[in-house]
Amino acid sequence: MRSFISSSFNVAMLAAGLSLPLAVTAETPDGHALYQENCTSCHGSEVFTRDDRKITSMDALASQVRLCEQNLGLTWFDDEIDSVVTLLNQEYYHFSD
Ligand code: HEC
Repeated sequence: MRSFISSSFNVAMLAAGLSLPLAVTAETPDGHALYQENCTSCHGSEVFTRDDRKITSMDALASQVRLCEQNLGLTWFDDEIDSVVTLLNQEYYHFSD
């Protein structure tokens, strides 16, 4: 009986340990959806492609996304910021780092 309890405890611990990375993967933020829902009311993509655009580096892009996000009163996590930064870089800015 004693060994039955301890082995089912181990199985439970193993299951808990395995479910953690799956949960993280399932919750990877969708940058496209975040952008569409929150970022299209003031400016469209023309601000990213205009000749005199302000953003000239990956760092500046990350800072600007954070600024606009904070101005909106959103409370995005870093991975949500990252997913939108990655999206904008892939679609418009094309910085290499
Ligand atoms: C409340 C209005 C508003 C919303 C909503 C908004 N922005 Fe902005 N955004 C601005 C303004 C104003 C500028 C500066 C435009 C300028 O300098 O002419 C700007 C500029 C930017 C730029 C820099 C463009 C350049 O010059 O290269 C980026 C990138 C950007 N916004 C991203 C975002 C993202 C991502 C979101 C969603 C989280 C967002 N914005 C939502 C107002 C907004």
